[in-house]
Amino acid sequence: MDVVIASDYEDLSRRAAGVLADLALARPDAVVSLATGETPLGMYRVLIGWVESRRVDLSRLRFFMLDDYYGVAQDDRRSFYRWLQQAIFEPAGVPRHHVYPLPTTDADPVAACAAYEEAIAAAGGIDLQLLGIGANGHLGFNEPGSPAASPTRLVDLTETTLESNARYWGTGPEDVPRQAITMGLGTILRARRHLLLASGAAKAEILARALEEQITEEAPASLLRQCAAVTIIADRAAASRLRRTAVVE
Ligand code: F6R
Repeated sequence: MDVVIASDYEDLSRRAAGVLADLALARPDAVVSLATGETPLGMYRVLIGWVESRRVDLSRLRFFMLDDYYGVAQDDRRSFYRWLQQAIFEPAGVPRHHVYPLPTTDADPVAACAAYEEAIAAAGGIDLQLLGIGANGHLGFNEPGSPAASPTRLVDLTETTLESNARYWGTGPEDVPRQAITMGLGTILRARRHLLLASGAAKAEILARALEEQITEEAPASLLRQCAAVTIIADRAAASRLRRTAVVE
């Protein structure tokens, strides 16, 4: 596991963009899963700039959604699919048929989630999984206590996550859907490479817990320590509570 300390959010964003750009250069049709949330927004802005200046081409990569709200259509303002389309896919020239959506409106989520897993396997598995870290250590919408081997599935969101996600639309938790479909921890951990981003002092405590305390399903991000190729990029504020982890500046 490499833990890289970025000098600030801009530096974090550039370094993270570099990881995806290097993959796209080496394997233009690689399979990638991106996170929504505030943390990767800077990375996406850097990538869009590099696409516009023709330094990198993301149009042949294939993408699988990490998580999304259940009962929310793709054109809903709360849809993560729509969010990623606007934040990166459309401006970076990724064609819609290269983005595999989660079955957020399917009446039979169990069968549809099993089909999603099969689609990932048919694509050859995830080459690069980008992750943020929830204040409670969640990965995707795998809340504390999610089984490490869990597959893509329908989940209930915790009050912490409802409150935390309300900020994305400037509304209250009552406007946040209470269920979501998330790639499972098993699905996420099977990716060949992981890139986790953490920015800001609000992530310092959970990052230290995930990296320096027990590996446990109660802190899903701690399970990444069992994976073969993990890069964590944290800015100084998010890394401020790390005491024992060897870091690269
Ligand atoms: C988003 C996701 C979440 C976020 C996490 C951090 O697709 O899966 O796990 O990565 O909640 O969110 P931010 O970056 O907004 O702090």
